[in-house]
Amino acid sequence: MMHKLTSSFRRLTVGKDKLGRCRLYSQLTQHQSPLEESESAGGVPTIPAFDYTPPPYVGPTADEIFRKRKEFLSPSMFYLYKKPLNVVHGKMQYLFDENGRRYLDGFGGIATVNCGHCHPDVVQAIINQVTTIQHSTILYLNHCIADFASALAGKLPGDLKVVFFTNSGTEANELALMIARLYTGCQDIISLRNAYHGNAAGTMGATAQSNWKFNIVQNGVHHAINPDPYRGAFGSDGEKYAKDIDDLIQFGTSGHIAGFIFEAIQGVGGIVELAPNYLPPVYNSIKKAGGLVIADEVQSGFARTGTNFWGFQNQGIVPDIVTMAKGIGNGIPLGAVVTTPEIAKVLTRRSYFNTFGGNPVCTAAGHAVLKVIERENLQENAHVVGSYLKERLTALKDKHDIIGDVRGRGLILGVELVTDRKLKTPANTEILEIMETMKDLGVLVGKGGFYGNVFRITPPLCFTKEDADFLVDAMDYSMSKL
Ligand SMILES: Cc1ncc(COP(=O)(O)O)c(C=O)c1O
Repeated sequence: MMHKLTSSFRRLTVGKDKLGRCRLYSQLTQHQSPLEESESAGGVPTIPAFDYTPPPYVGPTADEIFRKRKEFLSPSMFYLYKKPLNVVHGKMQYLFDENGRRYLDGFGGIATVNCGHCHPDVVQAIINQVTTIQHSTILYLNHCIADFASALAGKLPGDLKVVFFTNSGTEANELALMIARLYTGCQDIISLRNAYHGNAAGTMGATAQSNWKFNIVQNGVHHAINPDPYRGAFGSDGEKYAKDIDDLIQFGTSGHIAGFIFEAIQGVGGIVELAPNYLPPVYNSIKKAGGLVIADEVQSGFARTGTNFWGFQNQGIVPDIVTMAKGIGNGIPLGAVVTTPEIAKVLTRRSYFNTFGGNPVCTAAGHAVLKVIERENLQENAHVVGSYLKERLTALKDKHDIIGDVRGRGLILGVELVTDRKLKTPANTEILEIMETMKDLGVLVGKGGFYGNVFRITPPLCFTKEDADFLVDAMDYSMSKL
């Protein structure tokens, strides 16, 4: 294993990348972090070479922006790192700060920038559309919305062929919950503990982590035991957890329900992949109770899991409704609900309208995203690089006791940190320190989980094995410095 662990250290001393090209020493040394400066060059992991220099930044400093943000923006807005990072430029899997320092983006704008930052095809599609017609509403015809809906429907199995566009994941889930209630004539929704489905009136009810729930009325949702293979009582036995759904239906509802909503891999909840074999029996229970099955693919969709285009496909079920956002637009505000023609009809009972939903610019971007994922084999790359990255992270567990669990698939991976492996005590202060050191080395990752002790690794799907090596070496180094 050690031969792998030293990969990006070695590149530093050899001075050439794997293709034998000279490394950009000038770029690396010009923008060294204090950490890099203070260490002798030998042991510090360094970022893979990347032949791109962003234009000089001439905007306000991080301090100026921070001051304005504090005065004029909601105090609810939080940030990562002791001193928030001023990200001024992005190119594929890399971000640049105001000083031109390059960072490896291991978070992808929270599992959103699947094609890579400022992917030229997506940018061009946006420019072409914004200079043609930016906004018209669905009261008139426009080909962008129709072309993208038809391409998107082509990516979904079964009879999932009717698309409603929204502006966000929350909106998509709000709409899906309403559709399920209208279609079934029932109110009760079942969601999973530790879920995150959004933060509006209905979706906050489906969200099941107290730190994301305000003390307002949220009714009509029952939260089932989470099939969490690491912390759950039944380990990886999906069928045992599935029994709780039957219990909830029998003892918590009239026996008839509107639906069940789930994330195949809980993102905000700390990259928790639902225990294997959980969804098929749950699907049967929900159907028996007359409910609809809603897959929330906001984080796990658009090729991120590598093995399939959609997360739910990894457990072999076909839901009645699929919701999506984030990766659908590579960063453009866009969401969608896809369902069957029969279920879709319920929205004709009243007027349903969304001013920006499906606007030409966003749908042109979404269509470009689908083409990029296909042409650049990003699903395959997520599988190959994600498997390699997971293997390396899992190997790191042998070296650092603080790693309690490594999980996920493709390029949606989690590393849970604990101070005691037996008790699974969350290492929620240690994680901050490690994250800070990783940032100083040039690696950005996300953080989540109910206890805030899980690294969330959801980079752009163009991530390379060299990037994976750098990320793991930086994590290894940062853990060694604890
Ligand atoms: C699984 C899931 N569903 C829904 C949402 C809400 O999406 P948005 O923030 O676009 O409203 C999120 C956001 O993180 C999410 O992770």
